[in-house]
Amino acid sequence: MSNEVNSRLERMSGMLKRRGFILPAFEIHGGAKGLYDFGPNGGRLKNRVNQLWLEHWTSLGNIVEISSPTITPYEVLEASGHVGEFSDFMTTCLSCQEVSRADTLLEQDHPNPDSLSSNELDTLLEKIQPPCPSCSTSEWSKVVAQNLMFNTTIGAGNSGRPGFLRPETAQGMFTSFTSLYRHFREKLPFGAVQVGKGYRNEISPRQGMIRLREFNMAELEYFIDPETDITHDFGQWDKLSFELLSEDNGRIKMTIREAVSKGIVRHPTVGYFMAMTHDFLVAVGINADKIRFRQHESKEMAHYATDCWDAEIEGSYGWIECVGIAHRGCYDLESHEKYTGKTLRARREFTIPQEIVIDGWTIDGSIAGPAFRSLAGKVKTAVEQLPLATDFPISLNIDEQIVSVESTHVKRLQKTETLTGEWFIPHVVEPAFGIDRIIWHVLDHAYTETTKQEDSYTMMKLSPNVVPIDYCVFPLFEKDGMGELAKTVNHKFNSKRGIVSSYDSSGSIGRRYARADEIGVPICVTIDHQSLEDNTVTVRERNTGTQTRVHIDEL
Ligand code: GLY
Repeated sequence: MSNEVNSRLERMSGMLKRRGFILPAFEIHGGAKGLYDFGPNGGRLKNRVNQLWLEHWTSLGNIVEISSPTITPYEVLEASGHVGEFSDFMTTCLSCQEVSRADTLLEQDHPNPDSLSSNELDTLLEKIQPPCPSCSTSEWSKVVAQNLMFNTTIGAGNSGRPGFLRPETAQGMFTSFTSLYRHFREKLPFGAVQVGKGYRNEISPRQGMIRLREFNMAELEYFIDPETDITHDFGQWDKLSFELLSEDNGRIKMTIREAVSKGIVRHPTVGYFMAMTHDFLVAVGINADKIRFRQHESKEMAHYATDCWDAEIEGSYGWIECVGIAHRGCYDLESHEKYTGKTLRARREFTIPQEIVIDGWTIDGSIAGPAFRSLAGKVKTAVEQLPLATDFPISLNIDEQIVSVESTHVKRLQKTETLTGEWFIPHVVEPAFGIDRIIWHVLDHAYTETTKQEDSYTMMKLSPNVVPIDYCVFPLFEKDGMGELAKTVNHKFNSKRGIVSSYDSSGSIGRRYARADEIGVPICVTIDHQSLEDNTVTVRERNTGTQTRVHIDEL
């Protein structure tokens, strides 16, 4: 990072802290790496980003919001593969014992170190010998996989059961599939969204808000039938050229429609969500020229994904992944189904009913019933799966019990059945948004430094969609009734649903405008002596500084 970028970052971080956007958490106790507070202005901005995100997706009509616990039993995350797979490779400095992520140490020397195996990382660490960020020596231990989940115990004493703080909101949507399926009258496609906290015990958090141990995420799980042709209307993006870094085609610029039709984006719903993601990022104030989409290499993908495109945003730290749009296939529902034995399926009706001829075995109830008692139903189901060529007796594992099925327990089953449909495991396409990273880039892109009367002047050119404060109302002085009138105007703004207005009477008008500009308030309203006479006020616009006289009733 250049000195110029670094010093801008320092000035910006100072301003964000001073104005209550983002601050290191628990600072009076020395702080904690990877944990941040959103202050009085940041909190509201975050809320607006979240709200806009929810509306962006739920407005599609077949997407609902749910909320599931952040504390998650061990079994859920074992079934999902996170216990076994959700790890980063770490290495320890042999001199100072500081632990680092191996791929991070190699970022300058490899185009995509995240895709390397532990052996490849070992070899590169030995060859490159990157310096330790703490002590600058360059001898590293062999890399080891470190699971990123925070362990916890749910309950106390002997009744406590192991669990984790959730590493993604997604699992709550998968485990709620049956309720969602019912809610949508058993018709795909549909989706569920969730905005909330995720937790990852990052090995070496750095770059401020970019790598956090507790973070805000917003995810959509969109359930589809893999055998139904899906069409999306790409018309509204036909004039927009997207920058794509594709695994097979390198860097290209084209419309989303073209990328989907050429198979560069392999699934239309992934393409549709990429375009929707672009629109959301622009709506919250990300500069459209600083957005690109990068496809994951096969070795880099998360354990559940079959294709993944990241939306990357360029800012002071270079290009940073802020959204992942993954095709998760049937991975998650199938994993939970196998683990729990509970069916997580949707039904597909055939256009033409299918006749099937069954020629096999079933149980002879009069003999098998008394022989197998409570297991008889399950033995029947298992026997009906056996091929005609089965030799009896045969041993079957039913509910962890081995039962011997003799030829006297069974009889031949021959029949024709008409099938009108079938049950299948839906596929899932998931856009997953890192809200903190997006907010950080919103602030980075909005932060504007100029010189005003030889002094440096800072303004947050935030989108009105996400500003923490919509209006500031200033009395020129608090005397002669100007304060009262300003409070009335301020109250009038605040009484409108969704509007936030702030009354400020401290310091000169110039100082108050400067303060409002640093927070990004788009409109300031000033009450002066003339206001008392003719009920007109001065409306000042942030970006241009233009001032207009307006009647109070027209505000
Ligand atoms: N659910 C996507 C992620 O955890 O990044």
